[in-house]
Amino acid sequence: QYRDLTRARSLIAPVPDFPEEGVVFQDVMPLLTDPVALRSCVKEMLAPFMGRFDVVAGLEARGFLLAGAAAMVADVGMVPIRKAGKLPRPAAEASYDLEYGQATVEVQADVAPGSRVLVLDDVLATGGTLSAAHEVLRSIGCEVAGSAVLLEIPSLGGRTRVPDVHAVFAG
Ligand code: PRP
Ligand code: MG
Repeated sequence: QYRDLTRARSLIAPVPDFPEEGVVFQDVMPLLTDPVALRSCVKEMLAPFMGRFDVVAGLEARGFLLAGAAAMVADVGMVPIRKAGKLPRPAAEASYDLEYGQATVEVQADVAPGSRVLVLDDVLATGGTLSAAHEVLRSIGCEVAGSAVLLEIPSLGGRTRVPDVHAVFAG
């Protein structure tokens, strides 16, 4: 598992100046294409929470990919948290700040109130996305069982907003 994870880390590709000058984009797509890396990372994201959640939530768009795989591994269902305007029956919304302007996420009330939800995404940067996800889930009566990401970028301070996030990789 340690060797698989070390190799998996090497499959996250830093892309300088994307989507704009000065930003180093962390591209997890190569990791997702590798079956051993994908499976070992998904298992590692879930490990601290096993038996303590009823459903996983994935954050549009890249969190969907991990949450779908995680749902199969953990034998639970999956709740998509989407960017505004995509869901036919939105039940709650939460906005968060981007560098310029705001973004909004929405969720449907398709899971039973009181469900324990484990929230999954690819990258933790400022934590805006993940904290908005927690907010919408609580609005529909869910309990947030925890959050897990593949990669945390500590310099962007997301952990101040989401203190107990579990990151498979950091830095
Ligand atoms: C990226 C990444 C996380 C989020 C992290 O998604 O996939 O979801 O940013 O940033 P934060 O911690 O500062 O909120 P993005 O909004 O680029 O959308 P995408 O997943 O649809 O590509
Ligand atoms: Mg994203």
